[in-house]
Amino acid sequence: MNQTASPTQSQAPRKILVLGATSGIAEATCRIWASQGASLFLVARNAEKLDAVAADLRTRGASYVDTAVADLDDTDQHPTLLAHAINSLTGLDVAFLAHGILGDQTRAEQDFNTAAQILHTNFMAPVSLLTWLANFCVQRRAGTLAVISSVAGDRGRKSNYLYGSSKAGLSAFLGGLRNRVDREGVTILSIKPGPVKTAMTAGMKGSEKFANVDSVAKSIVSAIEAKKDTLYVPFQWQPIMFVIRNIPERIFKKLNL
Ligand SMILES: NC(=O)c1ccc[n+]([C@@H]2O[C@H](COP(=O)([O-])OP(=O)(O)OC[C@H]3O[C@@H](n4cnc5c(N)ncnc54)[C@H](OP(=O)(O)O)[C@@H]3O)[C@@H](O)[C@H]2O)c1
Repeated sequence: MNQTASPTQSQAPRKILVLGATSGIAEATCRIWASQGASLFLVARNAEKLDAVAADLRTRGASYVDTAVADLDDTDQHPTLLAHAINSLTGLDVAFLAHGILGDQTRAEQDFNTAAQILHTNFMAPVSLLTWLANFCVQRRAGTLAVISSVAGDRGRKSNYLYGSSKAGLSAFLGGLRNRVDREGVTILSIKPGPVKTAMTAGMKGSEKFANVDSVAKSIVSAIEAKKDTLYVPFQWQPIMFVIRNIPERIFKKLNL
């Protein structure tokens, strides 16, 4: 654990827990929060990358930064990790779940363990984290859980249906969780990015045209502030996915998507 100055009552910075803090999208989002003077607790599995991100956020104005190294696939550790993070922040305003893997679709088509790994990291681990976090927030009747799903979860397609189905499960879980906790004063934000320029998409065909991570981050910060339910980002993915979801299956199954 690595701490800087403690948050004070007078500054009343927002207390934000970031899971998967070394993700390109999370890093860009944290840069905005740091410049606003937020208190941040960062969790990632790569200690070296995590230290670099934390150091950068301190220089950008975060009023408090603490970190924990954890492999989020290890769901048994979640309760201790989350309790420790909230204790360190002395509360919780926002939890931001950003970790995830694209996985190897071709391999997953032949090998169940590869498929199961994608489902575990992108679906099971978030379900474990969100179950604990939602119950914590319900008890206090406050808090926002902002979670990165994907447009890929809106409809399964042959080129990435393992990743897509993990995100579809996550999106459905978030919808149900929102329906349960909204009346308890807890906000659930489902974030559905289209392709974004990060390490996850580096080297993909056409990646130079993917969305800029800083503008995606800006939209995420605004959606959290506005207590939105769902954010398609960039916004044009909302009508695009509306059309894609409504293509009749007899046509869709013949497409190369
Ligand atoms: N980029 C896109 O086009 C796009 C589009 C839609 C949705 N998303 C979603 O956006 C989120 C962020 O992705 P990104 O684009 O920012 O990609 P990224 O830079 O590759 O970030 C993914 C992060 O997840 C972390 N991670 C993976 N498995 C983990 C585990 N078991 N424990 C802890 N950390 C783990 C990775 O850690 P390591 O660095 O240690 O591997 C990495 O920091 C993901 O959920 C992704 O599915 C991305």
